[in-house]
Amino acid sequence: MTEGTLALLITGGTENWTPARWRERFIRVCSDRPVALLPDDPVEPATVRYAAVWKPKPGALAAFPNLAAIFNLGAGVDALVKDPSLPDVPLVRVADDDLTGRMTEYVVMHVLMHHRGQRYLDACQRDRVWAPKAQRAASAVRVGIMGLGVLGGHAAEALRRLGFDVAGWSRSRKAVSGIAAFAGESELAAFLARTDILVCLLPLTPATTRILNRRTFSLLAGDGPLGGPVVINAGRGGLLVESDLLAALDDGTLSAATLDVFDQEPLPATSPFWSHPKVTISPHNAADTDPDAISVYVCEQIARHERGEPLRNLVDRRLGY
Ligand code: NDP
Ligand code: OXD
Repeated sequence: MTEGTLALLITGGTENWTPARWRERFIRVCSDRPVALLPDDPVEPATVRYAAVWKPKPGALAAFPNLAAIFNLGAGVDALVKDPSLPDVPLVRVADDDLTGRMTEYVVMHVLMHHRGQRYLDACQRDRVWAPKAQRAASAVRVGIMGLGVLGGHAAEALRRLGFDVAGWSRSRKAVSGIAAFAGESELAAFLARTDILVCLLPLTPATTRILNRRTFSLLAGDGPLGGPVVINAGRGGLLVESDLLAALDDGTLSAATLDVFDQEPLPATSPFWSHPKVTISPHNAADTDPDAISVYVCEQIARHERGEPLRNLVDRRLGY
């Protein structure tokens, strides 16, 4: 058995994040080292070399004096980097084909839902009404992806293959064939002005907090084919000013929204989003990190580290993603 415990610190709350489910997978995949699920399993803190975490309690990781690396079991590290006591060791996030494919499914599904007017057809079915509206081509719809990173870049390519007119916006300019690339603050307005469906896949950082606000919505294309621009947010709840979104839907600045992430999760039963006629919601499951795929991803990275090879997908703590 290899020395150095892998500690799992996982906050549950949903079926996917059932801590015991993750322990069972990690024990199977990292069979050559001790795996301890905290706080249930007894562990001597000095023996912990690696930690795989999802929303650990603030301060919890500071208990391990010999930690060599932290693996966040999701792509977004916003909750983790907020902890001032987070040990100063390499921090790895998830960037994996399995997760990426799931997010692309979600983005494509919701872009198509708005493009094809599925909510209208659902209402027609409920009311037993046969009244199809004229169809438009995908090429007539301009999709703008905010955050052209691992997830945004993959979703952009899938949408382009379906025929949508796709652009992306990121901090540094990206070269993706067939996708118009915008970069930085200075090009945000031009990017928004050519966008009918805005898909937000940004990380939550000090620079992106509340970027989906009244002003952003007012800059979206007002002349598109959907009867008003649409916003899809699968990044983080903190990217959005929820009251601005509701006001923009109610005054017609926006025609519809899909939201997967919220300021408060689980979404309180009193939230107006549950019953708003122009809003489609999902419970922060646009793309689950799958225990089978991600336990393999973490254990392969540990093996790389122990062979003296560089860890992949390190977080830049200065930037916050
Ligand atoms: P990446 O780090 O690969 O991509 C982030 C993108 O955002 C990059 O293109 C980056 O620009 C851009 N960006 C960051 N800051 C700025 C800024 N200030 N201005 C303009 N662009 C900026 O992340 P992923 O694609 O892997 O994940 C994105 C986010 O998706 C995660 O952080 C997480 O919050 C969310 N997520 C949500 C899930 C869900 O189920 N709802 C599941 C998984 C992730 P550049 O390329 O120049 O660095
Ligand atoms: C993630 C998430 O960041 O699940 O991976 O939101």
